[in-house]
Amino acid sequence: MLQGGNGGRDSFSSKFGVIAAAAGSAIGLGNIWRFPYVAGENGGGAFLLIYLLFVAAIGIPVMMSEFVIGRSAQLNPVGAFKKIAPGKKWHLIGILGVVSAFIILAFYTVVAGWTLEYLVQSVKWMLLSNKIGFSEMDNEAVRGFFSNHYETFVSGIWRPIIWFVVMMFFTGYIVISGVKNGIEKYAKILMPILLVLLLILVIRSVTLDGARDGLVFLFKPDFSTIKEAPVKIIIEALGQAFFSLSIGMGTLITYGSYIRKKENLANTAVSVAVADTFIAVIAGVAIFPAVFAFGIDPGEGPELVYITLPVIFQSMAGGLIWAFMFFLLLCFAAITSTISVLEVIVAYFSEQLNMSRRKATILAMISVGFLGIICTVSSEVFSLFNASPDLMLPLGGFFIVVFIGWFLSKEKSRSELSSNGAYRTRFYRLFMFLVKFVAPLAIAFLFALGVYSKVISLFPGIG
Ligand code: PFF
Repeated sequence: MLQGGNGGRDSFSSKFGVIAAAAGSAIGLGNIWRFPYVAGENGGGAFLLIYLLFVAAIGIPVMMSEFVIGRSAQLNPVGAFKKIAPGKKWHLIGILGVVSAFIILAFYTVVAGWTLEYLVQSVKWMLLSNKIGFSEMDNEAVRGFFSNHYETFVSGIWRPIIWFVVMMFFTGYIVISGVKNGIEKYAKILMPILLVLLLILVIRSVTLDGARDGLVFLFKPDFSTIKEAPVKIIIEALGQAFFSLSIGMGTLITYGSYIRKKENLANTAVSVAVADTFIAVIAGVAIFPAVFAFGIDPGEGPELVYITLPVIFQSMAGGLIWAFMFFLLLCFAAITSTISVLEVIVAYFSEQLNMSRRKATILAMISVGFLGIICTVSSEVFSLFNASPDLMLPLGGFFIVVFIGWFLSKEKSRSELSSNGAYRTRFYRLFMFLVKFVAPLAIAFLFALGVYSKVISLFPGIG
């Protein structure tokens, strides 16, 4: 997918390639695993509404800003700021991004490993029971089986570590051999299949008895839920929007550096954000009706999806086959995201520290491997890492929009967004208004609130 062309540097070969790669990064476990459980813990409808608002008013402008920085500099996040703003401290944003990449890659790859476990389990059950469905087990039994399985699996030592290492290995392999060659080809076929499978799950889920309550929960905002913990809900909606869109840590600066000059950046950003948000909402529509129909607690936490999905499969003819296909595609969706995170570290190591791509990848894998293994053995570290994007990504995003809104010349950002005049930029004033005022003020305010509430929760005496 990457071809020579940008001054000898690789670039995506087609408009579709760019969107596939960036959407591949954005769409992943964040949509299908994290979004439903975070929405479930935070009351459903009201959370969704705030989330959508953040995607539109903050997420899309940050994404466009990252593309502008990456494409104009043609470098990794640290190198990009050094080049555009020499002698200033802006490149620290890039460093923050690389640090975030280590943390996110560690816990994310662990969760991706759970997907492999479920994939293997569905094959094992098919072989052992000689069946393609769970027919003789009732709902309670399947639910009990999975939640017990989840508990023993996640708290066990070796299996989560092995699956983590396997996922890490796949990711590293693809990054070393050039992310660029395979992804476009696979993404083109597999992403649409994932969507079709999700839609099949939606049909099954919304036709269950008692499904309506799930739809009401997801789509009817109940603002009284916000009153209980407003700061937590709003911060988590902002963090989830950043996490899901892959913004705030330079992933899309890195991908932006591979985008050809003639590509329309604003268009790409909007397409990616819409696709990503659509998949998250569809995942919610697949999960919540089943959650209510089967009496699962929507606030169950990170295991929500891993407990609910099997129960949906159980109620379908040929359930194990569906389960197998679904977890396989989920794995794929996870890998197109993990490679984008690893690419941030590898681009930094190879371009700034002059390492070969191979050496950079191996070094990154070993260090992330170390962090990831800590995540598998300590649920506290896992939770801490999993919560960190909520503050780290908006912080990165804040500086990115401030850079575009207040530092980079308007001629530069405008010519990047219009591809040197090839596209109309009627949205430019709105964009500038968002990156200059709306996004920085909103993020700064929420960030301060978030830090304050974290401090209070750690040291209740102060409040
Ligand atoms: N956006 C990915 C997801 O929703 O699964 C996760 C992710 C990828 C976050 C890349 C951050 C990132 F830089």
